[in-house]
Amino acid sequence: MRGEPPASSPAFTPTLSREREREQDSAPLLQVDNVSLEYRTPERVVRATHRVSFDVHAADRFVLLGPSGCGKSTLLKAVAGFIPPVEGEIRLDGKRVAQPGPDRIVVFQEFDQLPPWKTVKQNVMFPLLASRALGRKEAAERALHYLDKVGLSKFADVHPHQLSGGMKQRVAIARALAMQPRVLLMDEPFAALDALTRRRMQQELLELWEEVRFTLLFVTHSIEEALVVGNRIALLSPHPGRMRAEINSHAFTLDSLGGAEFQGTAQRIHDMLFEEEAAV
Ligand SMILES: Nc1ncnc2c1ncn2[C@@H]1O[C@H](COP(=O)(O)OP(=O)(O)OP(=O)(O)O)[C@@H](O)[C@H]1O
Ligand SMILES: [Mg+2]
Repeated sequence: MRGEPPASSPAFTPTLSREREREQDSAPLLQVDNVSLEYRTPERVVRATHRVSFDVHAADRFVLLGPSGCGKSTLLKAVAGFIPPVEGEIRLDGKRVAQPGPDRIVVFQEFDQLPPWKTVKQNVMFPLLASRALGRKEAAERALHYLDKVGLSKFADVHPHQLSGGMKQRVAIARALAMQPRVLLMDEPFAALDALTRRRMQQELLELWEEVRFTLLFVTHSIEEALVVGNRIALLSPHPGRMRAEINSHAFTLDSLGGAEFQGTAQRIHDMLFEEEAAV
């Protein structure tokens, strides 16, 4: 204590507060801490994930990658607040996730996530009105803003059946982003699209991220998609899912496709998945 200026000293306080700010900046936004998830049926208990841990920071594009049945969707549902962990804890901004909330919005794979009787704009407005986040006028403005971001302003007044699968997914993404969630959760959102549309959607998602810098938790079982979309990848082992490895993939973009480094990393991931499967 000797010789230290008092905390209120003008020369000292700013340094302290800057340090505190830095601490807050580096604290993970989402913490999945030793999380085990189970399904209980009258006959048996199915363990979907076993003691999975990872941290997601603000503006991360964090990907959960693993073979079918390893618990990716279950983990996403747990983060969304639909399934409570039987072990461990999920925290958002340091607070335990106990139920669904507007701070975590999910985009699913299915094209039929949009009520067909509402127009595109009404679909995007709906959660904003239902959660009482905004009044009608503000909700309409916010909806048009995000429809513009996904290139669908011209389609605001049509109904979902008049859209292609890719366009419906764009509406679902606009609807999710319009809620301005702390984390956007996506469960294989492009898996049902043809290869070309899927590639275009990946590119658009990355462009959207450049502009909006949202935090993304993205599920896929495509190694290539994980490397392109993610800046960090959690590789999960087969059923029940455990953390196999965490891979830094921020260097890869759509332009890296086909390059030697990209291929090498994809092969390494493939081998890790394959080794696990061979060992089972
Ligand atoms: N409602 C349920 N009741 C019982 N078991 C379930 C239920 N849903 C999933 N499971 C089981 O939990 C495990 C994880 O399923 P989950 O759907 O999370 O896998 P996934 O990694 O998303 O697979 P995919 O890549 O095929 O979508 C699987 O073994 C699955 O059979
Ligand atoms: Mg799944």
